[in-house]
Amino acid sequence: MITDELIKALQQAAEALSLSTDNIELEHPADESFGDWSSNLALQQAKQTDSFNNPRELAEALVGELEKILADNQDVEEITVAGAGFINFKLSQQYWLDQLSSLVNQKTQLISQSGKGKQVIVEYSSPNIAKPFTIGHLRSTIIGDALANIFEALGWQVHRDNHLGDWGTQFGKLIYAIKTWGDQEKINSSEQPIKELVRLYVKFHEEAEKNPELDQAGRDWFKKLENGNEEARKLWQWCIELSWQEFNQIYRELDVEFTENDGRGYGESHFEDLMPEVIEILKEKLPESQATANGGYFGQGENGAWLVFFNNDELPPLMILKQDGATLYSTRDLATDYFRLKHYGEPDLVINEVGAEQSLYFKQLYRIETMLGWYQPEQRVHVRHGLYRFADKKMSTRKGNVIWLSEVIKEAKERALELAKGNQPTADLVAIGALKWNDLRSESNRDIVFVWDELLNMKGNSGPYVQYAAVRAQSVRDKAKNQASSLPEQDLNEDELSVIRWLARFSEAVEQAAIDYASHHLAAFLFELAQRFNTFYNRQPIINAETPEQQQIRLAITAATREILTQGLMLLGIKTPEEM
Ligand code: ARG
Repeated sequence: MITDELIKALQQAAEALSLSTDNIELEHPADESFGDWSSNLALQQAKQTDSFNNPRELAEALVGELEKILADNQDVEEITVAGAGFINFKLSQQYWLDQLSSLVNQKTQLISQSGKGKQVIVEYSSPNIAKPFTIGHLRSTIIGDALANIFEALGWQVHRDNHLGDWGTQFGKLIYAIKTWGDQEKINSSEQPIKELVRLYVKFHEEAEKNPELDQAGRDWFKKLENGNEEARKLWQWCIELSWQEFNQIYRELDVEFTENDGRGYGESHFEDLMPEVIEILKEKLPESQATANGGYFGQGENGAWLVFFNNDELPPLMILKQDGATLYSTRDLATDYFRLKHYGEPDLVINEVGAEQSLYFKQLYRIETMLGWYQPEQRVHVRHGLYRFADKKMSTRKGNVIWLSEVIKEAKERALELAKGNQPTADLVAIGALKWNDLRSESNRDIVFVWDELLNMKGNSGPYVQYAAVRAQSVRDKAKNQASSLPEQDLNEDELSVIRWLARFSEAVEQAAIDYASHHLAAFLFELAQRFNTFYNRQPIINAETPEQQQIRLAITAATREILTQGLMLLGIKTPEEM
């Protein structure tokens, strides 16, 4: 790798001037015309030596050394000093031709396998049984799936998990409501059975306001459920199956899958039996007497509930058992992470993709898991997403973020039909691509404004724009009769170079997305690539290039662009249509 060679050369140059060789790094200059790689070595070390008046002088001396060291290196064209003392390396035409050639011939892996041998659990989507699949769950599904793809591409072993909300006292209430007011047959045959279940649940709360005894009845039914009562289990299982009918449809539509527990993920109920053990562990490992050493303790609050208290109130206490001994969301999360520890043999990383509104909760949870010695802080990551805000009047007048997702998808498909010139399969790919891109193109923790016309637009930063660039590249490739695999020696012009340089950054973009748990780095890379390719396409005749050599080079650029755009979109969970 060229970067390894440059770093080695910088180390040798530093040694020659008796400077430290630690922490030598490279980055891309913001302005590409300055060069391809840049080092701030001189700025970093000017203070360590008094032989030079300022960083710039030191940089010039280093360049003198570098020129000697790299004299025979055909890949480096020029080494210059810029600004206060940056050292910039400009790579040669030959280097870029070689890069292009190895891209089209796939001589090296497109994406570095830096994750080989490592295991990550990516938990995403996590909707609740008998509740609507919200926009929040949609965001989690899209973002989590993209992250899982990205880690997988980097060689990690990825476990895709879905932490379904399928347990808790609310199921006691729901069972009571179904038994009292529900008609199972009617619900079974209704178009939207979940809506019916939600209606029953709401009715329970309305009735309970008038008649508080219902709450006890709800609790009783949850006890029965916990104790394995056959009727309770049956109704609960029925709710799960009804919900899965809807979830399956959504996941199919979004082309998203999970790998754990036969593709359904480990829901909260899976950890029911593990919870008592976890409570014992908390009691044993976090006694009040050792609070100082542990950073907190597990103890009883005034009303008898059990909580984890953090030293100096660094975080608010987190309740683990209710006053009546009932378990909670938090109890099940602890059990989940304990299970993961054992089941996967200490995974390197566990990611929860969950809305930003649960940030404090996850801080508390992770802190407890560190206190217990289960995970190091950096092994637990909360990737948070913000809300959708709808510019569309029709949608913004609805309450909360409860929007029936199927309606959003339906509308997207209808609108995409126009972009797809009436071809429905293409429209479907465009619609889903547009929805996903809209979510993935900006930092996930930000709110996103949902504007139909921006989402489904071939101009601006949209899914269809990038898909279209890939389709266009493919159609040029298809028009060309032959494609030689070895490239001719040929001077590259700026439009050509601009695309090749960017193509060569694909792996970096994927890596950066994984490092920051942020797929928007990859989306930004792809958008820039699509733009550069479009400029190149508009200004440089490809099929009608002046010489056969030039045509070959341009076709190679087109092929490589097509490949990387499609692969990059795939990582974001977006498919490229055949035509648009
Ligand atoms: N079911 C939860 C909800 O809808 C999200 C679960 C997130 N994951 C977790 N491990 N707590 O809010």
